[in-house]
Amino acid sequence: MPQNNEIEVLLENNRRWVTEVTREDPDFFARTASQQAPKYLWIGCSDSRVIPNQITGLPPGQLLVHRNIANVVMETDPNCMSVIDFAVRILEVRHIIVCGHYGCAGVHTAMSGTTMDPLNEWLDGIRTLWGHHEEDLLEDGTQAAQDRMTELNVGKQMLSLCRTPSVEDAWLNRKSLRVHGWIYGLKDGVLQNLYPDIGSISERTRAESESPSF
Ligand code: CO
Repeated sequence: MPQNNEIEVLLENNRRWVTEVTREDPDFFARTASQQAPKYLWIGCSDSRVIPNQITGLPPGQLLVHRNIANVVMETDPNCMSVIDFAVRILEVRHIIVCGHYGCAGVHTAMSGTTMDPLNEWLDGIRTLWGHHEEDLLEDGTQAAQDRMTELNVGKQMLSLCRTPSVEDAWLNRKSLRVHGWIYGLKDGVLQNLYPDIGSISERTRAESESPSF
């Protein structure tokens, strides 16, 4: 396919989508443009196969989304911190979902050693986590170790999220806000809950004591 056609097809798809949506729901765009009031913030991987709204069945307006490589929550990342703060303080979402996925190239890269910056630096926290677990996990083979590391990474990022000032302040102000840790299976499309959700400082403290390496 010539390069121009590769990109033109997206705009053609868009026109077709607008026509279809308007035919089925004439008020859709007027309604959607007037406000967003999502109850959920999704923090997931950038992977093109994990599409948050599609896999949760949520229409536009109901899910605020932040994605980066390997669903990392880092307090030094102003992008992720801004999204979290906007979601919690302004939109007052009630749930934040940290979602990893099996077969995550970001996690695998962190496990296989160093790569080039900026990705190398981005994956530093996952590499440290791998350092804590490498010996145990490799006993079951590489595939199992990769899967388990992807799960552990969700737990680590969940706790990192629970330590952000935005989330702490929400809890100190007695807002209802729960943090969830999920994983998505590329092979079957199924989302699974990996850890007990966390909705207060004391629940966070308990989760921290159960997973000291996070
Ligand atoms: Co990924």
